[in-house]
Amino acid sequence: MTKKFAIFGNPVIHSKSPQMQNAGLKHINFDGIYEKHHLENGNEIKEIFLKNNYKGANITVPHKEFAYENADDVRGIAKEIKAVNTYILEKGKVIAYNTDAPGFLKAIESFGTIKNVLLLGAGGTAKAIALALKSKNIKVTVLNRSENKLDFFKENTINCFSWENFKPEIYDLVVNSTSAGLKDEYLPAPKEMLENIFKNASFAFDCIYGKITPFLALASENDCKIKDGEDMLLYQGVLAFELFTNTKADNSVVEMMRKGLKEE
Ligand SMILES: NC(=O)c1ccc[n+]([C@@H]2O[C@H](COP(=O)([O-])OP(=O)(O)OC[C@H]3O[C@@H](n4cnc5c(N)ncnc54)[C@H](OP(=O)(O)O)[C@@H]3O)[C@@H](O)[C@H]2O)c1
Repeated sequence: MTKKFAIFGNPVIHSKSPQMQNAGLKHINFDGIYEKHHLENGNEIKEIFLKNNYKGANITVPHKEFAYENADDVRGIAKEIKAVNTYILEKGKVIAYNTDAPGFLKAIESFGTIKNVLLLGAGGTAKAIALALKSKNIKVTVLNRSENKLDFFKENTINCFSWENFKPEIYDLVVNSTSAGLKDEYLPAPKEMLENIFKNASFAFDCIYGKITPFLALASENDCKIKDGEDMLLYQGVLAFELFTNTKADNSVVEMMRKGLKEE
């Protein structure tokens, strides 16, 4: 029987996950279909997942925390992040994973060895990235516009600052995990602060994909090598695909999924 997969979100209409996942499924001749599922109430996620006979799902904004709380079991780094982006049905139980964190680590591999990261933002994505870096013993400092989202990082003994009390060091990589630049032309921190940081840094990564954000443009002007968030999106999807299909995605699958992602 054809296996059903879905992405839950609100909104979900713009998600590129179906085209990416379906390209991978087709490539390996897997009898499965991946669809969009608009979900209003995150607390109903497990019930709706089961009722629809989904074998696996991805979860996007704003349901990742609800999905964590409602799962029967949580595996891996997701236990610390307390937010999940993947559900798998296993022997009637809903098992939850976070593939955003390892997906980010895979995306920055092309920069080579990284030892010290400045992470801008303190939202859901920043939590996953900070713990992913910490798990690899990479030093991470969080810098956020405001103080109020920093508690999670303090509880996890991650160095963190708001703009007001920031004490800069030298970082090899600067990551933008804020939404500044997504639908506007804002920088994620004051220009002068960023310029001083970029002058001593080698790389800049933006979680936003498909455009050169003001953050990436400024990094490039200051001679940093830049990368957008496409690979992060791709690799979180590839890792979820491996869980959905119980296969190892080789290069040909990864490239098919990348092609799917770029389809209009
Ligand atoms: N490539 C991928 O696969 C991928 C995956 C996940 C997310 N993303 C992207 O990552 C970004 C963050 O997502 P999220 O879910 O973590 O968002 P979120 O939980 O809403 O957090 C947003 C963060 O951005 C900060 N922020 C918003 N506007 C700002 C501005 N103008 N200047 C400075 N800081 C600002 C907020 O600071 P305050 O606390 O001060 O409000 C907060 O720390 C989004 O752009 C999303 O598209 C990409």
